[in-house]
Amino acid sequence: QEDLFKNVVSHAKEYGYIFASSEIYDGLSAVYDYGQNGAELKKNIKDYWWKSMVQLHQNIVGIDSAILMHPKTWKASGHVDAFTDPLIDNKDSKKRYRADVLVEDYAEKLNIKALKEITKAKKRFGEAFNEEEFVTTNPRVVGYLADRKRILERLAKSLTDEDLDDVKALIEELEIADPDTGSRNWTEVRQFNLMFGTKMGASAETSTDLYLRPETAQGIFVNFANVQKTGRMKIPFGIAQIGKAFRNEIVARQFIFRMREFEQMEMQFFVRPGDEMKWYEHWKEQRIKWHYSLNLGQENYRFHDHEKLAHYANAAADIEFDFPFGFKELEGIHSRTDFDLKAHEEFSGKKLRFFDPELNENYVPYVIETSIGLDRMFLSVLSSSLKEETLEDGSTRTVLKLPAILAPTKAAILPLVKKDGLPEMAQKIIDDLKWDFKVQYDEKDAIGRRYRRQDAAGTPLCITVDHDSLEDNSVTVRYRDTMEQKRVAISELPKLINAEVDF
Ligand code: GAP
Repeated sequence: QEDLFKNVVSHAKEYGYIFASSEIYDGLSAVYDYGQNGAELKKNIKDYWWKSMVQLHQNIVGIDSAILMHPKTWKASGHVDAFTDPLIDNKDSKKRYRADVLVEDYAEKLNIKALKEITKAKKRFGEAFNEEEFVTTNPRVVGYLADRKRILERLAKSLTDEDLDDVKALIEELEIADPDTGSRNWTEVRQFNLMFGTKMGASAETSTDLYLRPETAQGIFVNFANVQKTGRMKIPFGIAQIGKAFRNEIVARQFIFRMREFEQMEMQFFVRPGDEMKWYEHWKEQRIKWHYSLNLGQENYRFHDHEKLAHYANAAADIEFDFPFGFKELEGIHSRTDFDLKAHEEFSGKKLRFFDPELNENYVPYVIETSIGLDRMFLSVLSSSLKEETLEDGSTRTVLKLPAILAPTKAAILPLVKKDGLPEMAQKIIDDLKWDFKVQYDEKDAIGRRYRRQDAAGTPLCITVDHDSLEDNSVTVRYRDTMEQKRVAISELPKLINAEVDF
């Protein structure tokens, strides 16, 4: 699993998907740039989401609100007071730790201890070893696993103010010595606000303190009345948005899983008060179906229903994905009640209501939110698509089995040789296809090596122009996943590619 993760990170760089931000200056922690293939894959994920959420729903519209918002927004939303992480400062090394990450590390340690005991016993007992029995009866292993379960359950309930004392006590028990100082000297646990601050204005006296938005959702809430009135929207209806969000995450790790600058794809669905649970269930079902539709393996997804809820929610669930480092949150579905709209009414003094003609009543709508991290989605697609395959002849190939609809390049057009008019014919095919599909020309190296290069880059189709093509106006189409090849008339190519990348 760890190897797979390392492979994903190095593959992402080697094939122009993801680079460290400002890499020539040694990068910026937890900030990343998308390369030539990454930008295309990201765009395709956005399109796939936008089409299914906005284009296919007549009662959902999309907006694009600003990253900078009036500072009162974040007072109203609760982010100024409550968007914090429990933070532990180590006096000696001046390092900052996130409590939940520490707890997770401790759980991992317990797991490793249990595995060590199992391996030892396996060696000692040989054939006679019964793992299931050992794990359920050996007191040490039972103890490690029970502790681990307890700790992870605590983590799953998310660490709130009330938990802090417990977390602190727990960390004091931990045997994680600080790597720099060997010290276990923790100061107090305090709350750290995750919002990035910035300033607007020319001089220190006249400037205003602003925040970079930590979620796109508030841009939707503050535009509720604008969109409802100008779009003449009737409840139930939704507003969707894709855009950047910023969080000053304390611990940056796991590549693009937890970033300081990232993108969200969010949709707020406004419903009649009392109907929210029905719509909550509806969107849970819709969203998991959307994930399944990409065929990355249904076993890679699971729901995690929250027991402890954020201050604004009356129900919440995550869709978790089996990343190379285990099941982790990919998307959140939250029933946010009327918390946000009511808070904005209060802070702005403007009415954020809907007149429901059926009920002949004015009310502040309730909200179901679906919120997915675009970069996390990207990581889920990339990591589950990367495969090492052993072929029949014993050789291996690296292949990025991206869903064709998301692949950066749909087809590579390859002249078999760099002469005899084949490059020109290949270029002509590109000129015809490029209006509808992202295609690429490649003439360097032997054809076999070019196929492998396209396999690893995730291109679903290779189209080879050979000497026969000059005669019969046909080409060889090779499929990335099966490596099957077939002869196809050039005039049939658009139809064939379309069938592969259909929505
Ligand atoms: N409006 C609700 C909201 O922002 P959230 O659970 O804090 O909820 C939603 O974030 C999604 O955004 C997460 O499920 C995750 O996919 C993504 N996300 C959150 N923080 C992130 C980070 N630091 N880096 C990358 N993605 C992140």
